[in-house]
Amino acid sequence: MNTLTTPPLAPLLDRLFEQDAAASPASSPPLPGLSEEREQLMRSKTGYLDFYGRLKDFPFAVSRETGALLYMLARSCGARTIVEFGTSFAISTLHLAAALRDNGGGRLITSEFEPSKVAQARKNLTEGGLIDLVEIREGDALKTLSVDLPETIDLLLLDGAKPLYPDVLSLVESRLRPGALIVADNADFYPEYRSACARPPRYMSTPFAEDVELSMRIG
Ligand SMILES: C[S@@+](CC[C@H](N)C(=O)[O-])C[C@H]1O[C@@H](n2cnc3c(N)ncnc32)[C@H](O)[C@@H]1O
Repeated sequence: MNTLTTPPLAPLLDRLFEQDAAASPASSPPLPGLSEEREQLMRSKTGYLDFYGRLKDFPFAVSRETGALLYMLARSCGARTIVEFGTSFAISTLHLAAALRDNGGGRLITSEFEPSKVAQARKNLTEGGLIDLVEIREGDALKTLSVDLPETIDLLLLDGAKPLYPDVLSLVESRLRPGALIVADNADFYPEYRSACARPPRYMSTPFAEDVELSMRIG
């Protein structure tokens, strides 16, 4: 028994994953041709505001498997301080905050620039009984994660605009403790992250579950 698998969180996550599965941006009437554009915009360092702005009603959540992975990683490394890039409706945040609760408490800083998503995330975290552990920073993560970070960070989740993964990593890098974990979701959209950032000598990395890059800060 743990926070993740018991009420109020377990039924809430069931509902949120169902909503995520039912949402399909490619078939949405205001977004014709999206699937062709998606790959290009996902790789663009300037197109991300437009891309996520037009898709602000879609959760784009981590998979159930990645959610479980996040919970287990945060539990097993005894995480007390977590930073997340890309909150959306807070499905990943709920998994990470549940791990903090079961680790005995801590602080999770998460970042999201869409105000309606921030409101929805706050609602979900309140319903899940985890809002007390989470600070949602509204605005572009390039700004909001550039100040006032914890002295040491145990786990970083990268799940916002893919081309910004290297920039966000460099913002928090000096705070990552040796052994800290970095989970980069959908890292395949931006291969430069794999090839140029999460590499030795500073990181040990491995692709995981198809689209996740799991890295560990070495020293
Ligand atoms: C893939 S979704 C995150 C899904 C979330 N981690 C989950 O599993 O529920 C990416 C989110 O990152 C946000 N985002 C993208 N680039 C951002 C940036 N530079 N600053 C803040 N938020 C950003 C988008 O608005 C979108 O809601």
